[in-house]
Amino acid sequence: MIILGIETSCDETAAAVVENGTKILSNVVASSSELHIKTGGIVPEEAARKQVEYIIPVIQEALIKAFPSQSTSHQLLATKIDAIAINYGPGLIGSLLVGVETAKTLSFIFDKPLIPVNHIIAHTYGNFIKSSPNKIYKKYLPEFPAIDLTVSGGHTELLLMRNHNNFKFLGGTRDDAAGEAFDKIARILGLPYPGGPSISKKADKYFEKVENPKLILFPRPMIDSKNYDFSFSGLKTAVKNYLKKNPKQDIEEIASEVQEAIADSLIEKTVKACGEFNPKSLLLSGGVAANKRLRSKLQERNKIENPSIVFHVPDTKLCTDNAVFISSRAFFNQKHIPWKKLEANPQLNIRDL
Ligand code: KG4
Ligand code: ZN
Repeated sequence: MIILGIETSCDETAAAVVENGTKILSNVVASSSELHIKTGGIVPEEAARKQVEYIIPVIQEALIKAFPSQSTSHQLLATKIDAIAINYGPGLIGSLLVGVETAKTLSFIFDKPLIPVNHIIAHTYGNFIKSSPNKIYKKYLPEFPAIDLTVSGGHTELLLMRNHNNFKFLGGTRDDAAGEAFDKIARILGLPYPGGPSISKKADKYFEKVENPKLILFPRPMIDSKNYDFSFSGLKTAVKNYLKKNPKQDIEEIASEVQEAIADSLIEKTVKACGEFNPKSLLLSGGVAANKRLRSKLQERNKIENPSIVFHVPDTKLCTDNAVFISSRAFFNQKHIPWKKLEANPQLNIRDL
């Protein structure tokens, strides 16, 4: 089954063609992030305006790349595509509308089933893609039950996945999401948007300079709490206060301290959930899963504490927003609905699965 996926929840405009939920035939992502560097964050209207411009060319490019030199994108959509998958929330309303209305129109014109996808849960389907580095592990497709940690700019969710349709929400952030913490703290440090990669680059430099640094400067809020919740807004305040007292601090050192505090908080609760639920797989996903330190530290801790649990993490480029994981999620949960019934839902959450 070949699914065309469309994703426009934030500042990316993405389309992808994926076969049987696991094989990428094409993956096109146009970003307007350049525009947002000067403002230090996304301006929703600007993002949506760019998405109106990009959406049709991006879909055309995805179709042509998936089936090179065969036909026009119009013919390809008509003859090669079995269904259209669309992320309908959560996200920015203006951005979501661009993708959702385009997908509805294509579903109507080409008479294709339309499969709505929840963006948060879709992130983890980057783990079901064959190009993932999971090949270095024994098994390729994640097995259930699985513990999933999805960490992005808007979400920090710890889930128990019993199968493709049965999820238990274990915990989430009480305030800022992990990616949001990276973005806000980067701004405090004078580093460019998006903050995660900026902080990570500075931290890498610090690791080059200092062997085995201690990295215990900042608090790990809620790390010892009995639940599976997280909190990151205090870290932002701690960094601000520290800089006020120590204005000449080495930014590379602060960046690695911040990265470590976020990674430790995430890892502790995730490993604890693995201990309690004893899953077959541990899945990491979301934009923050692109963070090298988080990936390697979680893998290491899992290997030591739960050696029988297989750790999965998507290819770095499949961690941040794309339409591949939208198509994959749709394949594994093929609940299509009439195009007339679909509406963008910016507030959609993990409990509306
Ligand atoms: O999943 P995503 O592309 O969009 C949302 O659904 O939110 O995640 C974007 C978030 C941003 O907050 C960005 O700073 C963070 O992912 N991010 C990273 C890295 N790459 C992206 N955070 C830490 N380290 C990275 N290498
Ligand atoms: Zn996302």
